[in-house]
Amino acid sequence: MRAEVSRINPEKPEPDLIAGAVTILRRGGLVAFPTETVYGLGANALDLAAVERIFVAKGRPARNPIIVHVADVVEGQRLVTQWPPASHKLAARFWPGPLTLVLPKNPIVPDIVTAGGSTVAIRMPAHPIALALIKGCGFPLAAPSANASSQLSPTKAEHVVRGLQNRIDLILDGGPTSGGLESTVLDLTGPLPRLLRPGLVSGEDIEKVIGPIIRGSSEKTGTGPLSSPGLLARHYAPQATLECVEGNGLARVIALVQQKMKVGWLIYSEGPDRHFTGEENLLTTVMPSDPTAYAAQLYAVLHNLDEKRVVRIVVEMPPDTEPWRAVRDRLRRASCEGG
Ligand code: TXA
Ligand code: MG
Repeated sequence: MRAEVSRINPEKPEPDLIAGAVTILRRGGLVAFPTETVYGLGANALDLAAVERIFVAKGRPARNPIIVHVADVVEGQRLVTQWPPASHKLAARFWPGPLTLVLPKNPIVPDIVTAGGSTVAIRMPAHPIALALIKGCGFPLAAPSANASSQLSPTKAEHVVRGLQNRIDLILDGGPTSGGLESTVLDLTGPLPRLLRPGLVSGEDIEKVIGPIIRGSSEKTGTGPLSSPGLLARHYAPQATLECVEGNGLARVIALVQQKMKVGWLIYSEGPDRHFTGEENLLTTVMPSDPTAYAAQLYAVLHNLDEKRVVRIVVEMPPDTEPWRAVRDRLRRASCEGG
């Protein structure tokens, strides 16, 4: 199987292209499509055999549950047995958008989707192609990020082509995604809401709507229980070994280049000591100093360094503040510290 790649208008998706994708999904096939965060690999969430194909294509461990994507709130409510006031308020404020809610699962959702667990993660994506596709299907789409398990998430169709083309049926190419990082995952099944994965909707944004939440221990240094299996492993990682450096990474970069290694260096601000040029083995990228813009570019930059076959990536860590939480989380997990 070799997926066809169809270019599709990201603002006004062509109905015939959506119809073609819907036909594949109805037959239990796999279609990669853009969302506002990253590209997803979609299958009919209510079709056990179709969801099984996602696990096979990605090489995803069976214990890692998948997010179910819906076209509206009512479709989301059908997948759960409780819709507490917090989910009502959060969906009203953030859907469609990059917030995933974990709620008690309705038995109509096959166990394979939730890795046998009693909760299901749902979100309504804010991308015209994703929404048109789900609406066209009339069923929700189980969709993890469209990459091989533990690899970097794709933010462009070409990333999906490189990673999965030979294992899926169709890739809808709607251009680069705008958000660049996976959605925020919030568990609403406990006594207090718990942030399982930081993302573009921040903990502060959520607290403004529903009051205090617990910041989950998605970082390895945390002590709380790991409530999301997907947060256990080294994840979101490039091929090269990535090192996070607090402060200036210049000394480290010089040491690596002197060892004749091909090195990528990500800095987030220009400075007088940041110019170490003229080294053909060093590829320096100045990242945006704004967290949203940084997030939008991060995976594309890492994919690009992998393509250039660097062996090490040294990253100047952005500040340890709330707006940078999601970016720092992904950088840590991409590094060896991610476990
Ligand atoms: O932005 C996104 O969320 C993208 C796009 C495609 O929507 N999807 C995505 O899916 O990142 P994936 O499978 O790569 O990551 C889903 C995360 C995993 O860490 C998984 O463990 C967690 O969500 N998750 C899924 N279902 C869960 C559940 N029932 N309880 C707790 N965590 C869950
Ligand atoms: Mg993923």
